[in-house]
Amino acid sequence: MTKYIVQGGKPLFGEVEISGAKNAAVAIIPAALLVDGVCRIENIPQISDVTLCLRILEELGANIRPVNRHTVEIDCRHIHSTRTSYELARRIRASYYLIGALLGRFGQAEVAMPGGCNFGVRPIDQHVKGFATLGAKVVVEGGFIRASAEGRRLRGANIYLDVVSVGATMNIMMAAVMAEGNTVIENAAKEPHIVDLANFLNSMGANIRGAGTDTIKIRGVDSLSGGSYAIIPDQIEAGTYMAAVAATGGQVLVKNIIPKHMDCITAKLQECGVEVEEHEDTLLVRRTGKLRRANVKTLPYPGFPTDMQPQITAVLCLAEGTSLVTESVWSNRYQYVDELKRMGANIQVDDKTAVVEGVDHLTGAPIQACDLRAGAAMVIAALAAQGCSEISRVQYIERGYEDIVDKLRALGADIRSVEEPEETDELKAQIS
Ligand code: EPU
Repeated sequence: MTKYIVQGGKPLFGEVEISGAKNAAVAIIPAALLVDGVCRIENIPQISDVTLCLRILEELGANIRPVNRHTVEIDCRHIHSTRTSYELARRIRASYYLIGALLGRFGQAEVAMPGGCNFGVRPIDQHVKGFATLGAKVVVEGGFIRASAEGRRLRGANIYLDVVSVGATMNIMMAAVMAEGNTVIENAAKEPHIVDLANFLNSMGANIRGAGTDTIKIRGVDSLSGGSYAIIPDQIEAGTYMAAVAATGGQVLVKNIIPKHMDCITAKLQECGVEVEEHEDTLLVRRTGKLRRANVKTLPYPGFPTDMQPQITAVLCLAEGTSLVTESVWSNRYQYVDELKRMGANIQVDDKTAVVEGVDHLTGAPIQACDLRAGAAMVIAALAAQGCSEISRVQYIERGYEDIVDKLRALGADIRSVEEPEETDELKAQIS
């Protein structure tokens, strides 16, 4: 069991290099299944969700060759199975992309119901609706989603999404890329990783237009061949370091980013009194004065990302005045608030809204990461707090943040990772 020990109260100074985008990588790796050739993928983040995706592909028969720490070659010419193991697929949300990819290439897929962070109901009805409209039969049996095309190839169709869903947009894109005829996805999500997946597939020979707008048009092609592709930088990882500087004060150059992707986060931090200077592929983030209150509402891109909601809430805990945070993407993404309260935060949650009364300071405490982004918020709060915090369940954080401890230490943070023995069953019984 790994824990982070954080001695808070130190401003951050220096430079941080942002890794490849997690939510692009966990889609692009399964999308390699569509390619009848070798895909070289660069700028892959070293995080546990990516390791799991690669292991799942390997189990299906892909040949995975690491080239260096951030580059792999994936060869899916000899896939021998279209059924994922329950054990691996259920541990990661993005395993649902295996359905679209396997269905698109082989006309069939059997994938364990996806797992991932738990923040309320996470339906996949829009994915299923998309597959069915393309001519697939989809059933859920024994913990698995089984999808099969009538005949071997899906048929292009018009699909209108009832909710703007990142996952459904990308999954339908994968299923449709080699379908017979044309597909149009309307009310599509517009996140940067959707454009990234489309660019990856196009570079392998697909014909996708309109990614990044709400209408995506796909002309089915017969096959995809290999090539080389570099994943975009992680918008949320960059935003998390920006929020950390906002909370602790200091000055950090956030490197290897696409500033346009950061606009929604940059604007909100500026409203809070943080200075952000934009350069070609870097942002200089500085906070010297007091933090100001702000209202935040999460929305699909280009709105403020739900995956930054816990981190900005941690910042607003220390801002002067009352801030309102409204979560409008997920139904239950405030489980971490009780942990912030242990540190002295003053937050009241009413359904989708958190009312955050700024406090003068937070104090270090034993806290836990309830999920990936909540975990990032705990790190931010602990870095800004007076005294020592002990963050447990950090395996959630390591699902999505490459080398977070080393990157923060390089900025002058006093954070270290320690291994502790697992609680024995006997001890757990005594506690409960
Ligand atoms: N929804 C439906 N039906 C569906 C799909 C989604 O009702 O079939 C609803 C969801 O319940 C939610 C909303 O639509 O209320 C948006 O969900 P979306 O499908 O966009 O989310 P996702 O694709 O499952 C991805 C990211 C999440 C991120 C969301 C929103 C991955 C692997 N996950 O999830 O990332 O919060 O988009 O941007 O890409 C994270 O990185 O910490 C994370 C949770």
